[in-house]
Amino acid sequence: NKVVLAYSGGLDTSVIVPWLKEHYGCEVVCYCANLGQDDDLSGVEAKAIASGASACYVEDLREEFVRDFLFPMLQSGATYERTYLLGTSIARPLIARGQVQTALKVGADALSHGCTGKGNDQVRFELTYMALAPHMKIIAPWREWHIRSREDALDYAALHNVPVTSTRASIYSRDGNIWHLSHEGGSLEDPWLEPELTMFQRTVTPEEAPDLPEYLEIGFERGIPVSVNGEQLGPVALLQTLNDIGARHGVGRVDLVENRLVGMKSHGVYETPGGTLLYRAHQGLEELALDRETLHFKDTLAIRFSELIYNGQWWSPLRYALSAFFTETQKNVTGVTRLKVFKGGVYLVGRKAERSLYVPDLATFSEDAVYNQADAEGFIKLFGLPQKVEALTSGAE
Ligand code: ARG
Ligand code: SIN
Repeated sequence: NKVVLAYSGGLDTSVIVPWLKEHYGCEVVCYCANLGQDDDLSGVEAKAIASGASACYVEDLREEFVRDFLFPMLQSGATYERTYLLGTSIARPLIARGQVQTALKVGADALSHGCTGKGNDQVRFELTYMALAPHMKIIAPWREWHIRSREDALDYAALHNVPVTSTRASIYSRDGNIWHLSHEGGSLEDPWLEPELTMFQRTVTPEEAPDLPEYLEIGFERGIPVSVNGEQLGPVALLQTLNDIGARHGVGRVDLVENRLVGMKSHGVYETPGGTLLYRAHQGLEELALDRETLHFKDTLAIRFSELIYNGQWWSPLRYALSAFFTETQKNVTGVTRLKVFKGGVYLVGRKAERSLYVPDLATFSEDAVYNQADAEGFIKLFGLPQKVEALTSGAE
């Protein structure tokens, strides 16, 4: 009779602790993953204990997050509904796995989270539980309890001696990690309104970015970013460096009305500075390194892959199979791309690959042995034959 709760230290998850004890008569163990969110996690354990938890495990998963989740996603080129770089979606399977491992370690028989019943996150947490700990019970307080507002939560907290550090609520629902910060709710509920400037927290407003562009070079090995401006960096340091550059130039803001898995549309704004630089740079290198057939096919699979990530199906056979495909495509994605960033814009201004398929002699008109212009005549005749047959049989003279 022990539950492991995915815990953030915020009001909502703190209130869940006494609620679980009261309604399930169980011991509550909190689990908090450090994925590079902006919150100060130093007080999290004390807060969990003060709220009634018997223990709280805080785990630094940043390195794993970048290496095993973000970089493979980058290699795939996945974006959800054209623009969302999936920062929240991709984090959930990792957090939930850490939670499952903790549950197995402490001998718990149930898992709980603080996601509402209206969103995607509940699905992502629970699909991970189901894939990795199929026998454990799942408790989703938001789908059961009567707390409906922040006031309700504050009342419940006061009644159960849950320490509340700040009573000043943000009007936005946010989720952050080293990859991105998301904003939903508040004035964003009207998709006709431009987001308030004060909402943004990770990037400067493009208008206020420096009046001079900045150039940077990102090095890749087999599709994995390994250096910035010639300096070799580990995954976390590399992403932090790119976040800093992107942030000061107002790079990586996305405003999207998206389709949630549970059926409704929602309006969200995302700040993904470093990730935006990485996606553009990686894409530029693939232009040189991938053959046409692989590139085009990969792009169609990237859409499917984005759906798997968004819908919480990370721990699934199709995801494993697609990952194997994407890894195979990255064999020759080794080289450097040069970007120019300026007032929110990202411009790819140079690329070179160790093994580039771009052979200038082929594209120019000089005589050479590989490409004989006379061959084009027969090629076009056969390539265009279906259209010719269509025209000849259409009845029109
Ligand atoms: N709409 C985004 C997604 O589904 C962001 C969700 C943010 N989650 C949160 N608990 N604030 O991935
Ligand atoms: C939530 O409802 O818990 C956050 C939004 C989402 O999961 O999409």
